[in-house]
Amino acid sequence: MERQTFYITTPIYYPNNKLHVGHTYTTVAADALARYHRLRGHDTWFLTGTDEHGLNVERAARQAGKEPLEYVDPIVQWIKELWATLEIQYDDFIRTTEERHKRTVQAIFQRLYDQGDIYKGVYRGLYCTNCEAYYTESELKEGRICPVHDRPVEWVEEESYFFRLSKYGPAILEHIRRNPEFVRPESRRNEVVRFIERGLEDLSVSRTSFRWGIPVPFDPDHVIYVWVDALSNYITALGYPDGELYRRFWPASVHLIGKDILRFHAIIWPALLLALGIPLPRSVYGHGWLLIGGGKMSKSRAGSQVIDPLTLVRKYGVDPVRYFLLREVPFGADGAYSEEALVRRINADLANDLGNLVWRTASMIERFAGGEIPAPVPGEDDGILKEKAAEVFDEVERALERLEIDQALQAAWELPRRVNKYIDEQAPWELRRQGREEKLRTVLYNAAEAIRLCGVLLSPFLVHTPGRIWDQLGFNPPEEQLWDDARRWGLLPPGLRVRKGEPLFPRLDLDEVLNGEAAKTPAQTGTPDSKPGAAPVEPAARGSATLPSAEIDLETFQRVDLRVARVTAAAALPGARRLLKLQLDVGGEERQVVAGIAEHYRPEDLVGRNVILVANLKPVKLRGEISQGMILAAAGPDGSLALLTTDSAAVPGSKVR
Ligand code: MSP
Repeated sequence: MERQTFYITTPIYYPNNKLHVGHTYTTVAADALARYHRLRGHDTWFLTGTDEHGLNVERAARQAGKEPLEYVDPIVQWIKELWATLEIQYDDFIRTTEERHKRTVQAIFQRLYDQGDIYKGVYRGLYCTNCEAYYTESELKEGRICPVHDRPVEWVEEESYFFRLSKYGPAILEHIRRNPEFVRPESRRNEVVRFIERGLEDLSVSRTSFRWGIPVPFDPDHVIYVWVDALSNYITALGYPDGELYRRFWPASVHLIGKDILRFHAIIWPALLLALGIPLPRSVYGHGWLLIGGGKMSKSRAGSQVIDPLTLVRKYGVDPVRYFLLREVPFGADGAYSEEALVRRINADLANDLGNLVWRTASMIERFAGGEIPAPVPGEDDGILKEKAAEVFDEVERALERLEIDQALQAAWELPRRVNKYIDEQAPWELRRQGREEKLRTVLYNAAEAIRLCGVLLSPFLVHTPGRIWDQLGFNPPEEQLWDDARRWGLLPPGLRVRKGEPLFPRLDLDEVLNGEAAKTPAQTGTPDSKPGAAPVEPAARGSATLPSAEIDLETFQRVDLRVARVTAAAALPGARRLLKLQLDVGGEERQVVAGIAEHYRPEDLVGRNVILVANLKPVKLRGEISQGMILAAAGPDGSLALLTTDSAAVPGSKVR
């Protein structure tokens, strides 16, 4: 059987500026795809690099009083460090200033000249130095402003070599018609087709107005146009024309780029390849932009903000930043960046759905199975999670084939969500109460095995979380774990000792992280001198049927911080007949509450259930134990007590209003 290969490239980056989070978007996405294909056992190559020539770099270097190479070297180093921080696993990093690149670009130029595809002429036109591209009047905004950079373009007139781009328009159109997946997403394909149909003009491919470029081999007064130089990196890095890597990986599976450079990749690049008789890449995917304040996040746009990816990673960690970039914006479309959206994603998806599930399951295995993954009992297995996991894996695979990375993550999240629901439905604490030990063991095994699979599902996207999840299960995956093997149900060996550690993702306080406020202490309300032994469940709640009591206004009510909390452990308090000591998960934050409910509830029946916590009640000590809040209950019939709980969908930590 023929071995599948996957060759993915990102654009090579300009090192005249530090990269912002918009730039990292392409590379993080490419890294996720490359990791996925490696996991599938495909022969994978992932290329990135830096695009170092051009007028902009020459000018910036001059301003800094440096030679261009001396100027870009530390920036390139910084870019490499950025990729290391984001755990980008590229296979090669090409700099356009390297000999292997320059030599081949010159050979390509020479060949195109020799065969008559490049000829000499004079160019007059409007040029954006930031895009390194000429524009026609109709493409510019009013006042001859570049539509990408919002800056005035310059009138340039120079002797130039031209590439016969016009000759290749019909062949490219034909190629796009026959290979609809060549330009993606579809909306962008239509844009490219319309552009070619309007008629292509020959392209100016050399410059005499600056020196910082690869010299035209037969006319050294000219340097090669930076886009011909840059685009060629995709094959020079493979050792075109006869390198082993070139034979192995070309044509590329996908060039992943932002939509602003789609025309270069979907028109100029294929035309150059057709002229050279080289097969075209299978796909060019132009993703959308991360927007900030309604515009593209961009250093050269006056007045706009940029977000430094390193600052974000330092503040939130690599996996949360990677997750946000990959999940938040539908891949292909534009999407607004905001730190608030990032924090919300961390809290909702990572802390609640995933982190809480792992923590909750490990707690139950500790409580109900002595801390060891129990062996499932075949006759008791409902197969629900096994079936769901298989469906989710299939869907993630389909989405990644279509490069719908956000959809893949959305599909992946169906698994932790289903496991949470499964636990609520199966209620292990009830199974224990009813003495259904075999079912209980099976349910706990299923939850743990599904959690192992969550780790597998996340492996293409997140770099530390899968290992941390497996670690909490006490599971040591094999060194070379391929996706198809790892996705099989039942690989988690019973008997492993769980290692419940810190919650995977602490829940973040939005105000605190955005405004940098110090952690707020809860409002100082409540009775400071509660007598030992008094139950935090208000006795007044029992059986009082007189309505209403004294009125309070909304503001007063809102000062009471009511939260959903999940009971993670419960124990009797020696010597206190009425009291139970509860450990609560309040959305990643752990609280201990001493509650006067021992006459009505057995500790083991409470674990895993949601309760309502008065979270800003001043902490008190009861029988030597700290009680950080109060849980709510109401009177039941015949002197019984009913704890207030929630519908299964409520999320620990969320406010009760
Ligand atoms: N050097 C050229 C590419 C040459 S490829 C043969 C270049 N470099 S760049 O540094 O300006 O941009 C690199 C990539 O970052 C591009 O794909 C661009 O679309 C992407 N992005 C830059 N800002 C972006 C956002 N705000 N959002 C998403 N992607 C963005 O172009």
